[in-house]
Amino acid sequence: MINKVMQDAVLEKVGADAHVLELGAGEGTGRLADMFSKVTAVEHNEKWMLYPDRVNYIYAPLVDVVSHERFPSHDKWYDHKILDESLPGDYDAVIVDGPPGYIGRSGVINYGFKRKAVLWVFDDVWRQGDFRVMGLFAKERGRVAVLHPSGRTRWWGEIDCRK
Ligand SMILES: C[S@@+](CC[C@H](N)C(=O)[O-])C[C@H]1O[C@@H](n2cnc3c(N)ncnc32)[C@H](O)[C@@H]1O
Repeated sequence: MINKVMQDAVLEKVGADAHVLELGAGEGTGRLADMFSKVTAVEHNEKWMLYPDRVNYIYAPLVDVVSHERFPSHDKWYDHKILDESLPGDYDAVIVDGPPGYIGRSGVINYGFKRKAVLWVFDDVWRQGDFRVMGLFAKERGRVAVLHPSGRTRWWGEIDCRK
């Protein structure tokens, strides 16, 4: 779950008027909705679409996808067709906090996001797999990922593609 330290840092970087896109929803999504003028959240499990009055949810089941060559076990991700049809075109930041770690998140590298020049935030990069996904995402964009502590033993990361 994204924590307040990370949310405050994103707020400082993009401001309260921002539209935040979150991949992977949960209880923390409600806190995002308290902080930002607009929140869109992609979620594969309707159970975690907890704040329909405040969050623009995109229900996108996990389907078979062609896995990234470096992450052959990551063979499921959000349905591309649904994202193609439903993702907004005006978000300012993306928080990558889904799908669950056991599914793998390298689908974020493979999917062709139309809006790329935004702040990209990766949660859970204290996990080796998620750290590698963030690193490859940054490398493919010629960017550097910056790590931030999230509590005593955990980390989140950012890749600022706005400039
Ligand atoms: C790391 S969670 C996302 C958490 C969300 N960004 C938040 O801050 O609350 C990744 C996925 O696990 C599921 N999930 C959400 N909250 C959960 C919870 N408290 N326990 C177990 N699974 C959860 C959802 O399907 C979600 O897409």
